[in-house]
This record gives sequence, C-alpha cells and structure tokens, in this order.
Amino acid sequence: MGSSSFGLSFPLGVMIVVLCFGCRGLLAVASVVGFERNYKITWGHVSSLDRGQTIQLSLDNSSGAGFASKLSYGSGYFRLRMKLPNKNSAGVVTAFYLTSRGRAHDELDFEFLGDKEGKPYRVQTNVFANGKGDREQRITLWFDPTSAYHNYKILWNPYQIVFFIDHTPIRVYKNKVSIGVNYPTKPMHIEASLWNGDSWATDGGQTKIDWSQAPFTAYFKEFNIDGCALGLSSNHKAPDEKNPDCYSSKFWWNNRSKYWRLNSQQQAAYKNVKKNHMYYDYCSDLPRFPNLPKECPQ
Ligand SMILES: *[C@@H]1O[C@H](CO)[C@@H](O)[C@H](O)[C@H]1NC(C)=O
Ligand SMILES: *[C@@H]1O[C@H](CO)[C@@H](O)[C@H](O)[C@H]1NC(C)=O
Repeated sequence: MGSSSFGLSFPLGVMIVVLCFGCRGLLAVASVVGFERNYKITWGHVSSLDRGQTIQLSLDNSSGAGFASKLSYGSGYFRLRMKLPNKNSAGVVTAFYLTSRGRAHDELDFEFLGDKEGKPYRVQTNVFANGKGDREQRITLWFDPTSAYHNYKILWNPYQIVFFIDHTPIRVYKNKVSIGVNYPTKPMHIEASLWNGDSWATDGGQTKIDWSQAPFTAYFKEFNIDGCALGLSSNHKAPDEKNPDCYSSKFWWNNRSKYWRLNSQQQAAYKNVKKNHMYYDYCSDLPRFPNLPKECPQ
C-alpha cells in the first residue's frame, strides 16, 4: 500500500476492527501459514500461487506431481483445503495421506478418483497399520469437489482415527489394540500428490485417462499443521521407534473428550454417509474375507 493511501487506511482499519470485533476469520487470514514453512516439493509439476498460499499440482503425459511435509508427526489433526481436477478426469488420482517410511509401515489415505464428466467423484480411504492395509472403503461425494475448495481432515490420536470431509466424518478407525488389532503408531509425514491411476482407479482400470484433456490440475491451501512434530523426515529412513509422548495429554487433539469419540450429531452424519454414500466397505466383503477382520463390526 502506497503512502498516499495512508489517509484512507486508518479509518478503514478502524472500521474493520469495529465490524469484526471478535471475528476470528479475519485473524485467521492475517496469520495464514505459507507452503514453505511446513512443506516441500517432492516431484513433478508444482507451482506456487498467491505467494505460497496456494499450491497447484499438474498431471500431463510426462509427469504428475507431489509435495510432502518437512517433518513427521506422531499424532494430530491434519487438514488440507483442496480443489480437485475438473473436466474429464477419469483415471486421475489426487491423494492426501499420512505415511511412515521403512518396513511395516503405517499409512492413512484419502484417494480421490476422477471420472468422466457428469459422474460423481469417488473417494477411497485406507488404513495401513504395521504394514497391513486391505482396509478400503469407497464413497461417492455429495457435492462437486472440482468447483470449490473443501476441507479434508485426518484426526489421529490414541483413541481413534477419523477421516472428515468438511464437518462430516466419513470413516472411523478406532483403537482396538486391546483385542489385538494393529493401530498406527509410527511417525508419519503428510503427503499430497496427483498421478496417473488409470490402471485401477476408474471402472476397475478399464477407463483410461483422456490425455487430450491434460493438463489436469489440483489446488491446495491451508498449510498450517496441527500435529506432534518429530523431526526431519529423510527420504531414506525416518525414526521408526514409537513415540509415546505424541499420545500425551499436552496436545488438544488428544486431551479433549470431543476428539475421543464421535458426538451424537457426528454419529448421525456418519451413519448417513454409510447408508447413502458408501458403496464399498471391506468389512462387508465376505467373498474377499470369509473371516472378516477383527476390527469389523460383528
Ligand atoms: C504428450 O502430450 C503432448 C502434448 O499434447 C504431445 O505432443 C506428445 O506427443 C505426448 N507424448 C506422448 C508420449 O504421448
Ligand atoms: C490440552 O492441550 C492444550 C493445548 O495443547 C493445553 O494448553 C492444555 O493444558 C491441555 N490440557 C491438559 C489437561 O493437559
């Protein structure tokens, strides 16, 4: 702002403060964290827009793209705001996930599966604990994720892991270590990527990417991280040891009972997702699992 506008900016500032007294939105805008503070580019076509407040990933026939957090985390409430590739995006996969490195890894996945124009976007989630995944669930989205930003969140504390889309829980993985079910405990870093998944993502891999529609672009915002940070994640080896301190009650996502289980409103929303939007659940796939995994409701 030039000095000539000084005369204007003071009363305007006062007006905003008066109108927005107690308005947290304005404060949030003032303290937005840029990409560079917490994340780094890992591969492919990545552009930084709005001075690092928005990141664009693109996929063309030469490459996809990805970024990752600089640190790894042992618990937290992780979030990205995302706008997914539009147009005819069959075979295009956008992913937001947490993953540990090394053997017997832990991983929590959101995978957004593109489709032909006019067909609803689908979302696959998966949970890996101690190297074992095979816990896919799939839902269709009830809105168009390509036309606006939405919040995609993963809560991870000692009690439960919950995947949220905006305020709606779409998946819950409870800590059932007491009955012998593995639960993620390894330090994980946050990753986001855009890639060619046309070998499996759409119609079981039968619908291929229409490259005449390329480049496909996904947009990301909100690079603040609420997590228990554990140090630099190297490309080779991350600390593999468990870190009990990240489950300590000094973190708000661990210490408030509202994060230990869904409240009744969230339960109702989750039930609605399961009834009306979930079209695949490994827990009801008896041909695949004649003996359902122990964590599944009996
Ligand atoms: C990739 O796309 C470009 C631009 O559409 C095209 O010129 C090129 O031939 C394509 N390459 C391959 C390997 O398909
Ligand atoms: C819960 O976490 C918050 C933020 O991390 C902290 O300020 C507060 O003291 C914690 N409460 C308890 C009971 O530990």
